[in-house]
Amino acid sequence: MNRYQSFCRRAAADGMVLLKNEKKALPIAPDKKIALFGRGQFVTFKSGCGSGDVVGVRTVSAVEGLHNAGVPLCEELYSHNRAWHLNHFEEVKNADKFYDGMKNMDEIPLTERMVSEAAKQTDTAVVILSRVVGEGRDIPLEKGEFYLADKETDMLRMARKHFAKVIVCLNFGGVYDLSGVVANHPDAILYMSQGGQQVGNALADILLGKVTPSGKLTDTWAKRYTDYPTTEFFGEMEVPYKEGIYVGYRYFDSFGKEPLYPFGFGLSYTDFEIRNQEITLSDSVLALRVAVKNTGAYPGREVVQCYLSKPQGKLKQAYQDLVAFAKTGLLAPGEEETLELSFDFRKNASYCTETATYLLPKGEYFVRVGNGSRSTHIAARVTVQKNMPVLKTVNRFAPNVIFREITARTTVPYTYPGEGREKETAQAFVLPELPCEVIEPAENHPPKLLAAGNGATVTIQDVAAGRATAEELVAQLNLEELGCIANGVNYGLDTYEGGIIGSMSDSVPGAAGETFTIPKYGITGNVCADGPAGIRLLSSGDDFTKISEDDQRRTLTAYPVGTCFANSWDEELAREYGQCIAEEMARFHIDGWLAPGMNIHRNPLCGRNFEYFSEDPFVSGKMAAAQTVGVQWKNGKSTGKYTTIKHFVANNQETLRTEMSSEVSERTLREIYLKPFEIAVRESQPHALMTSYNRLNGVYATVNYDLLNGVLRSEWGFEGIVMSDWGATGDFSLRPWAGNDLNMPGSGKTYINLMKGGKLDIPVVQECAVRIIKWLVKTSQLPTDHSNQESF
Ligand code: BGC
Repeated sequence: MNRYQSFCRRAAADGMVLLKNEKKALPIAPDKKIALFGRGQFVTFKSGCGSGDVVGVRTVSAVEGLHNAGVPLCEELYSHNRAWHLNHFEEVKNADKFYDGMKNMDEIPLTERMVSEAAKQTDTAVVILSRVVGEGRDIPLEKGEFYLADKETDMLRMARKHFAKVIVCLNFGGVYDLSGVVANHPDAILYMSQGGQQVGNALADILLGKVTPSGKLTDTWAKRYTDYPTTEFFGEMEVPYKEGIYVGYRYFDSFGKEPLYPFGFGLSYTDFEIRNQEITLSDSVLALRVAVKNTGAYPGREVVQCYLSKPQGKLKQAYQDLVAFAKTGLLAPGEEETLELSFDFRKNASYCTETATYLLPKGEYFVRVGNGSRSTHIAARVTVQKNMPVLKTVNRFAPNVIFREITARTTVPYTYPGEGREKETAQAFVLPELPCEVIEPAENHPPKLLAAGNGATVTIQDVAAGRATAEELVAQLNLEELGCIANGVNYGLDTYEGGIIGSMSDSVPGAAGETFTIPKYGITGNVCADGPAGIRLLSSGDDFTKISEDDQRRTLTAYPVGTCFANSWDEELAREYGQCIAEEMARFHIDGWLAPGMNIHRNPLCGRNFEYFSEDPFVSGKMAAAQTVGVQWKNGKSTGKYTTIKHFVANNQETLRTEMSSEVSERTLREIYLKPFEIAVRESQPHALMTSYNRLNGVYATVNYDLLNGVLRSEWGFEGIVMSDWGATGDFSLRPWAGNDLNMPGSGKTYINLMKGGKLDIPVVQECAVRIIKWLVKTSQLPTDHSNQESF
């Protein structure tokens, strides 16, 4: 197994979450015979579908993983299952294909006799349930989709009736309805996720206890779909985000609703004791040292989570927000490790729309520490003596439709016995007075025309070596060249054929897109490929003349999906993943990765949730930042590779994805939907960002000045380029003005015609081109010494 495959297997196991484990059903002894149920044992999904699916690779299914581990199976049951599956193979052959597949499969029929016969050979049944969905489709609220199919319910019922131990494994990319599973009272439930191509081996590692589960949920699993606050508005053309900041656990906690499995929850085979050792407050940063001891019988890892509860005043707050987390290394029984966690109050201020400030409202703040959102204790109380504005900006967003957000004014939030007393006795601090920073709004002055000098031609190598500026290079470009710089080559379909520009649109077959090569200025095309679960290079119908399929199979890797990485709560793992991706990119001559996807899981039905991380902005931002650091930097030096964080912003449903409008208030946007992107930009400075297909408050992202030049550049200091999603909507003549630098896969001719017709300001396109040249210098395999660049 190569290094990438071993990483894949480890990452998949680390992202699996043990939701239930009674009667010590897990782990299973290695020589124990098991009765294996469910079509998912053969068709085990490594990921969802669409551009986030890595194709041309082989997935280790659940049954293969168990075979590889030498687990004996009930033979007759296995033969029956296998024969039926193979006889119905046609129906699942395309199950993971882009758009045309995504059909969830029919379950294998069983008879009571078959099941009882198998039960004579063993007391242990393992059931694999699988689901797939992806880009362009949301999960239907139907049986066999969001709900169990009747045959699945039947299978679970029979397994329960005949076996002493029933273990259910969920090969899902996100949240589904579990009422049918729970009603059949399995002894163990493992959310195995879609763990990439090594998913079957990783499953065996967990089931047999070679790896102790250490994943925790990064989404709330509700008892029923209608328990989520977002179900009233989802899948429509205009979607008012009425739930406001109360997304996921923020809603369940604040409105006192009991989830099936809470955010942050996950069991282990071993036990841990968590002790706060030392808490300090220095300026606006609260730091905690937390000791974690393995008090059980298995080696294992634990995740410590820290939540902040803010005072309820004029600005209504969620019961708690996640503000820090850390994961231990592998602790042997009896071993202890001290974790250091910290968070900055300034970064956790609430947005007050009335005054356009980030504010720390006056009152008592409680810091909670534990191993899940509903298993914490109060570690500290911090008093803020007066309302403290910490950042003044301008309001930029207002919904286009009228609606009122819900508030938790009259509801009774979640509590637990002893919480009141803990509040009284917690270690107390007073937050010192903090200055208020002021952000000057981005000035919307049109840039001046860059005029060319008479000197020798400036090349991109001159820019890279510091002999000339990007502005000087751009000043030389004529309208055709300018139009091409600001657009991808569109697979040669929209290529400018003026002779001086040589497009290399097929330089890496199967890649998602590429920018122009302009030999005159030494500019090389920049190639980018999808997507969040590895590098996607092949797609059916493409002519892969340059890289053989065998080569692909040997080297490309399908990694676990975004939700699986998030569930690992392991930033180091995410960084390591980025490194693997950067190495694979170098091997295949790819410059950029169209990932990570990092939209918030607003509603469990969103078809692309598997690509994204979580319902929580903090964990999403941290994962994206760690992956970006891994891709873009190695030992303090730039790798010349880049991430493209996407989809900016509020792409939370696939239905009507290129037309619908997410209607969101300023505060909700800033605290929930923009937040993960803000964290990723501030902490890792990705070299690229992709705008989303949807509209935000009626305005397409590609033409949203406040979103791109406003929040992203002026407020957060983003230094990379903004590219459109593939064929995204939005008036071309407004895109450069808004700050959307590059159109993908490309509309060069449109730009050139608009500029020639005076409908697109040349200086504004030049401004985008300057950013693109700077980006090319950082990322286009130039023989450049990057050692002077800032490192993360
Ligand atoms: C998807 C993007 C993807 C792009 C290129 C689009 O359909 O929305 O996420 O990166 O295609 O494949």
